[in-house]
Amino acid sequence: MKFFSAAVLFATSSNVAAFSAVAPSSTGAATGNPDPVDKSMRGIDKEPSTFDPTAGENAALKRNNNDQVWVPQRARPRRNRKNATMRGMVRENIVTPSNFIYPLFIHEENYNQAIESMPGCERHSLESMLKEVGEAYNLGVKTFVLFPKVPDELKTNLGVEAYNPEGIVPRALRLIKAAYPDSIVCTDVALDPYSDQGHDGVVENGKILNDVTINQLCKQAVCQARAGSDVVAPSDMMDGRVKAIRDALDSEGFTDVSILSYTAKYASAYYGPFRDALDSHPGFGDKKTYQQDPANGREALIEAALDAAEGADMLMVKPGMPYLDIIRRLKDASPLPIAAYHVSGEYAMIKAACEKGWLNEKDVVMETLTCFKRAGADIILTYYAKQAAQWIEQDGLY
Ligand SMILES: *[C@@H]1O[C@H](CO)[C@@H](O)[C@H](O)[C@H]1NC(C)=O
Repeated sequence: MKFFSAAVLFATSSNVAAFSAVAPSSTGAATGNPDPVDKSMRGIDKEPSTFDPTAGENAALKRNNNDQVWVPQRARPRRNRKNATMRGMVRENIVTPSNFIYPLFIHEENYNQAIESMPGCERHSLESMLKEVGEAYNLGVKTFVLFPKVPDELKTNLGVEAYNPEGIVPRALRLIKAAYPDSIVCTDVALDPYSDQGHDGVVENGKILNDVTINQLCKQAVCQARAGSDVVAPSDMMDGRVKAIRDALDSEGFTDVSILSYTAKYASAYYGPFRDALDSHPGFGDKKTYQQDPANGREALIEAALDAAEGADMLMVKPGMPYLDIIRRLKDASPLPIAAYHVSGEYAMIKAACEKGWLNEKDVVMETLTCFKRAGADIILTYYAKQAAQWIEQDGLY
């Protein structure tokens, strides 16, 4: 994983030295026992009845030509882990800032609002958003996704504010694309930030209506494309929305706008802090009639096949860590790039444990992000994007 500093490495091996048969020298603890070990291992046990693994007709261990204790083992995977240079050479997965999509919360106010359940994240004013984009951009994080907190008075069941060309998302898009034309800005296609019902679709008598919701999503996607969105990311989980959005974009000339589909989005309890951030908790019930059941893995393959056939450019799994098996299944099933959303609840859990001093934040975050890549994610949406890019800049690639 990371290149351990000499101090950390030696501190670890000194624990082993304390249990070794040869007494550590006075400096042994600091240097990892510089004294040679007699590998014949003879004469170290006082009690004659002590078991000797190298003795007897059916000895468990052998002795080599130099009378040293020998496990006749040809394949020794530890050779490839010998030191940092060797480990770097054989490392299978590396996280780079270009893998990240940085989610940003925005609101209409001219101040930033801390999000209590997501320490270190805030709802940005548009000015602050631009500054945050610039800082991340200069660290190599060049892709962003915007999530708006919409004032209650603009929320309706049909979510019409979602396609207001002067709404907060189109304005934010124009600002970012003007200042950072080479950035990639993704936009969330879904009604929940704009819904007075707190749902991702139009509601009738307690039901989420599929097809009329898609009618609204098509307008939202085209509105975002007109404002400069590079990637629209439908997160609603309505059936048939990728095809409809693709056709809507294409019919308006936006054949170059990509679709990053939330393919396997689960009805998860890990979204709580995000809903605090946007004040978008469901007004009634839950989202289980459209988001996937956390108990189901194969079902994600149905969604993946549909999204690919309907024209998705990239497939997303959400949440991330508890769903690494789904990332792997989609990776094996589809040649499309796979994205993983390291969601707010996962972020909050790491933050809380680190605040208590129970985990080392840098180590646990970089391990987590690397595990996403190992599981098969090409792209990682994470609130740690900027912070991780800073760590990578300081420490080199992990
Ligand atoms: C790592 O091991 C290789 C092979 O034994 C050796 O050539 C190299 O000098 C070692 N590098 C470090 C940094 O210890």
